[in-house]
Amino acid sequence: MEVIVVSGSNRKNSQSERISKIIQEVSTEKLNIIPKLYSLYTNDLPLWDEEGYGENDKKIINLKKEFTQSNAFIFVVPEWHGMVPPHVKNMILLLGSKPLWHKPALIVTISSSNGGAYPAMELRGSSHKNSHICWIPEQVVIRNVKNWNAKSEDEIFNRLISYLETLYIYAKNMEQIRKELSKLDIKEFGM
Ligand SMILES: Cc1cc2nc3c(=O)[nH]c(=O)nc-3n(C[C@H](O)[C@H](O)[C@H](O)COP(=O)(O)O)c2cc1C
Repeated sequence: MEVIVVSGSNRKNSQSERISKIIQEVSTEKLNIIPKLYSLYTNDLPLWDEEGYGENDKKIINLKKEFTQSNAFIFVVPEWHGMVPPHVKNMILLLGSKPLWHKPALIVTISSSNGGAYPAMELRGSSHKNSHICWIPEQVVIRNVKNWNAKSEDEIFNRLISYLETLYIYAKNMEQIRKELSKLDIKEFGM
């Protein structure tokens, strides 16, 4: 099974990247699934542009290829100004429909204080219409993120493992759903 963890911050040494790496480790050790990391810091994506991407063309091709090959996603998204950071939305726009089409994804939001609810709600409210990404009902909100690590084995940690397991069950079974959906003639209503 191919899984991608998206680190949704373009900051150097971000908490999103730290948490994404913890998720990679935990998934590998406890569930035997090794997710790849896609960082919005190292992959400095251009803004969506209908005129094309010039020297960034290859970046966009690779982005779409990697996500198309993946069966599931974990989006680690910080709360910025009570919102999802714009480059996460930009990435979803750049991906278009096919790479995320009816694939399950787990939302993990982070906040250095008591936030984290707004970006979760924003993703659920406004990112699936054309991408067709399927956010699973579970989500993890990591508050006071700078003080959190996997060693604490607390409630958040246990939730994370359980929701990763849930995500992978969706991932296994949604292949069949995509197969059946691809036979429907639904182009008229958008891919
Ligand atoms: C531009 C900006 C806006 C922020 N706004 C919020 C906010 O509205 N609510 C909140 O809980 N934290 C906010 N924070 C603090 C972030 O939760 C904290 O910096 C977190 O580590 C950011 O994730 P990152 O390190 O992955 O970029 C903000 C941080 C930045 C950089």
